[in-house]
Amino acid sequence: MAIYAEPARLKEFLKAMTGVSHGANLAIAHKFPWSKYRTAVDVGTAQGDLITQVALANPHIEGTGFDLPEVGPIFEEYAEANRISGRVKFSPGSFLEQALPKADVVLMGHILHDWSLEIKRMLVRKAYEALPNGGAYIVYESIIDDDRSDNAFGLLMSLNMLIETSDGFDYTGADCSGWMKEAGFRETRVEHLIGPDSMVIGIK
Ligand SMILES: C[S@@+](CC[C@H](N)C(=O)[O-])C[C@H]1O[C@@H](n2cnc3c(N)ncnc32)[C@H](O)[C@@H]1O
Repeated sequence: MAIYAEPARLKEFLKAMTGVSHGANLAIAHKFPWSKYRTAVDVGTAQGDLITQVALANPHIEGTGFDLPEVGPIFEEYAEANRISGRVKFSPGSFLEQALPKADVVLMGHILHDWSLEIKRMLVRKAYEALPNGGAYIVYESIIDDDRSDNAFGLLMSLNMLIETSDGFDYTGADCSGWMKEAGFRETRVEHLIGPDSMVIGIK
């Protein structure tokens, strides 16, 4: 994508993602039982606000942000600005091409809705493979309610993804739990975060 060749435009896009996600990131950092886990990787981390908020609220957590290599300097600048450079690191790579870094918790915010059903399922399988038994996978975005009647923002976001991407779409908590169960997760649950956003949690 052209934007990755233009650092200033890329930074603006990644900063905008922080704006969209910050409230939900704070909710995840405070709501999830982090005391049970030691390491976390945020896949498609952008500026890294999610792993930053998790690390700030939970000083025992060692965090990794995984994203395309061009994102590295922007992630590192944000970690430095938040004085957590020593506790979070950047791991460059493509989730389409390679295995995900291993961690006790794998996070994916606003990632699955960019992609086709086939790639969604592949990413869920990769998250499963990156976790130890007992590890947790957290997927979050504007998860649509199961009878598709309530979360108008999520339904409109899905329409938006159909327009903006080649075959991305948003989905219900039941859809995501189904993909997690297919991949082998033994337990799943959906928890509301803030506004239209919820997280789907899978336990391996
Ligand atoms: C819509 S943004 C979501 C950012 C952040 N997780 C959030 O919720 O605010 C998608 C992110 O996925 C990253 N990304 C796109 N394709 C990728 C790939 N093949 N491998 C790794 N990261 C990728 C983008 O660089 C971007 O940071």
